[in-house]
Amino acid sequence: MDLILSTVEDLFVTVSVPLYDTIIPILRKIRFFILLPFTPILKLITDHAFAQIGVKIDSDMKSHPDMVILDNRFYARLWSDQVFGLEEMYVEEWWKTENIELLYDKIMTVFDKYRWFLKLHIAHWEGRFRWGWLNTGRAGHNFKAAEEYELRESPVEYFKLLTDKEHIQHSCGYYANGASTYSAAHVEKLKLIASKLELKAGMTLLDVGCGFGGLAKFMADRYGVTAEGVTICESMSKVAQNHYIGSKVTIKHQHWREMEGKFDRITIIEMLEHVGKQNYDEFFRKIESLLKPGGRVLLQHYAVDPGTPHFTEFGCKYQFGQVYFPDFAEFVSPCSRYFRIANVQDFSLDAERCAHHFIDMIQDNWAELEALVGLKVVRALRATYAEALATVKARAVMIYQTVLVRKDDRTRVPVQ
Ligand SMILES: C[S@@+](CC[C@H](N)C(=O)[O-])C[C@H]1O[C@@H](n2cnc3c(N)ncnc32)[C@H](O)[C@@H]1O
Repeated sequence: MDLILSTVEDLFVTVSVPLYDTIIPILRKIRFFILLPFTPILKLITDHAFAQIGVKIDSDMKSHPDMVILDNRFYARLWSDQVFGLEEMYVEEWWKTENIELLYDKIMTVFDKYRWFLKLHIAHWEGRFRWGWLNTGRAGHNFKAAEEYELRESPVEYFKLLTDKEHIQHSCGYYANGASTYSAAHVEKLKLIASKLELKAGMTLLDVGCGFGGLAKFMADRYGVTAEGVTICESMSKVAQNHYIGSKVTIKHQHWREMEGKFDRITIIEMLEHVGKQNYDEFFRKIESLLKPGGRVLLQHYAVDPGTPHFTEFGCKYQFGQVYFPDFAEFVSPCSRYFRIANVQDFSLDAERCAHHFIDMIQDNWAELEALVGLKVVRALRATYAEALATVKARAVMIYQTVLVRKDDRTRVPVQ
């Protein structure tokens, strides 16, 4: 029976993904063309709604979050595709503003108040179905790494413009002990992780979703551990493999389901988001099977305020691929089947500062980024991080570091 159900679900996912990716854009276009003749009315309603949150449309942009509409079809597309449409239109330059961060802050106030209204819109459910419900992370449907991760022709050049140059960490840093730059915050983060894990020379460490392997390298060099990094992204793994020849670091191009071995310590830094909530039980069971007795796991992960959408369609489509941000309950219950949660640290303030740094790096390196990946990708990045900053500031999205131990482990895990 289980086999039949699983085969049916496989078939459903296999058929639904391409079907969605073909049909929904067509439906959205039809909706858009139906709404287009109503532009004058939609403009009145939109201008009024934005004025309520302190944003003037088609102003001279003297006051900062104001917007100028560059294409009059804006209104029909906004009402057809909702927030996703707003962001796509930013990429396509249908509107502009002097201060996109402030604009998103204002929009977040609407989210809080009128979440129920936004959820009535069909575009919300289209996005939710595609990025929230379809389990593309199932075995057999394995997930292609997001386009951004496989990046185009020059992944390292690209990521070096958007991360610290040395450890190439594409996650949230720890702005403590005087760390005020992106780079220093990442060193602090790595030191904090080592301290919570009480790393000692000779231990084995597995870093799941290792990116360019900077964490593995740092821990091997500084603490004398033997480290293995695993990433689904082939181009990243190749760069990392070449980089670490001769050191105590091994990088594997693997899906998490294929990981093998036994380790004293396991780190999972901003990778859980790619697992998909339907697969959490299998994922944590797998992690437990890889952990030696007395071992520890450190996760750095996102969690959303319950009620906040668990995905952002725009972020999924344009940057991260399949991502799902669980709320705490969704994370804790499968995880607690296999582990005891030994400590949890809120990184939301750090996430705010880190989002500011990402935005600065995009601004500072705009020309180089544009030459590497094109204007549209850079504008999409800009919109993604403006949204990330606004959602983190509103604490609709949070980041945590959580340490897990085996259920029979009674030791105290250091907080710092
Ligand atoms: C946001 S990046 C974080 C990278 C790194 N941990 C850091 O802090 O810079 C997420 C990483 O998870 C990896 N990943 C995503 N899905 C995966 C999967 N199914 N199996 C293994 N790695 C995966 C990606 O290739 C990427 O390296």
